[in-house]
Amino acid sequence: MRLWGGRFEGTTDERVADFTRSVELDCALAADDIAGSIAHVHGLGRAGLLADDEVDVLVAGLEELRRDVEAGTIQWDPALEDVHMNLESALRERIGPLAGRLHTGRSRNDQVATDLRLWLRRTIDGLDEAIVGMERALVRVAVRDGEAVLPGTTHIQPAQPVLLAHHFLAYVEMLERDRGRLADCRRRANFSPLGSGALAGAGYPLDREATARELGFDGVTANSLDAVSDRDFVVEALAAFALSMVHLSRLAEEIAWWSNPRFGFVRVADSFSTGSSMMPNKKNPDPAELVRGRAARVIGSLTGMLALLKGLPLAYQRDLQEDKPPLFEAAAILESSLTVMAGMVETLRVDRERMRAAAGEGYITATAVADALVRRGVAFRAAHHIVGTFVAEAERAGIGLDALDDATIAAALATSDDSVAIALVGDGALPGELRAAAALEGALASCDVVGGTAPRRVAAALAAAKARLGM
Ligand code: ARG
Repeated sequence: MRLWGGRFEGTTDERVADFTRSVELDCALAADDIAGSIAHVHGLGRAGLLADDEVDVLVAGLEELRRDVEAGTIQWDPALEDVHMNLESALRERIGPLAGRLHTGRSRNDQVATDLRLWLRRTIDGLDEAIVGMERALVRVAVRDGEAVLPGTTHIQPAQPVLLAHHFLAYVEMLERDRGRLADCRRRANFSPLGSGALAGAGYPLDREATARELGFDGVTANSLDAVSDRDFVVEALAAFALSMVHLSRLAEEIAWWSNPRFGFVRVADSFSTGSSMMPNKKNPDPAELVRGRAARVIGSLTGMLALLKGLPLAYQRDLQEDKPPLFEAAAILESSLTVMAGMVETLRVDRERMRAAAGEGYITATAVADALVRRGVAFRAAHHIVGTFVAEAERAGIGLDALDDATIAAALATSDDSVAIALVGDGALPGELRAAAALEGALASCDVVGGTAPRRVAAALAAAKARLGM
């Protein structure tokens, strides 16, 4: 096989051809490559390097190629190394030697950098839609099971009650930031490298700005060496993908635990579960586990990409070809994880009774009881101590905080070092107040700040999320 022109004698060793080939993977860039070529041809025409009729023939040939790519009828020739060589050769088959003028003032180095930015742009647009889909699924469940009360945890121990809607809206916040990160990445990546040539800049008076505009870029890259060798936009994208996967993996982990019968907070739909080849009893939340597992692969893509760039001298080095496997794989994983998680979340059956029963364990309204004492003038630290003794007493008696009797409450107040607390000992209204604060509804309602779990705050947050997501 001879590919590389007159400088070469003989053919490329088969092992080298196999080793350097990338067309199996970079054929994913075909549509972007053709778009870039069409814009480049127009640029060559504007620069007087092609006659108008030559521009027309080249563009018509490229458009025909685009249709074949879209129809999936193009045959990728493994002997032609990559997508760029394949497309140029396919164009020659269609329009003849005029195809040899296409690569004027262009290198595969600025070409692939352009293709990859175009690919990333449209991929980010698709991912943004998938994230919105996931957010909408979370919002729908938050609306559907809006009243469900969850025993919120810290240190994996029962902490304070929260609305399930509040919990799901936490993920909506994360995903919304993920969208912002992708948009940032897209903004920085959206500059055209075309005209940078192999490394030093094209040797023709190309109007780079006009070509960039035609391709929907916001401008042109300012340094040719940087343009052909920069892949920080790939790192940024992978970082955003990885973080989004990390967010999904946290929810995946929770769904896996919540669906364990010990918790029984949710039932994963049969259609989003798989069974065991041996244990007839099993119903496993495998999609959630795979989301968790695939997050590892995307994190690996990010670290791999950073390692690829580390110490790489200017300008283009062939190492850069290795940017595509991690980028393509990570984007595909994120997209499929988002869509499968959206389906899983939407089909979850929430067991409000089980959740509520669990919220009755662990004295998770204790903070609300302490807050009630503070509202009566007791110092928080003293209130913390007093309620701690309530909890110990309730635990000994095997009852909830809302069942403590007046005498127990009075005894704890009397031994406090807080003078206000001591003065409250004979207060007839206080025990009832404290028991009301110990009820789940009271505790929930008391977290009445922006971003808190009080039902009216959650309702406002839900309304804001719905408006943002066009629901
Ligand atoms: N397949 C190559 C890549 O993805 C295209 C650029 C090749 N450039 C070169 N000088 N060999 O990076």
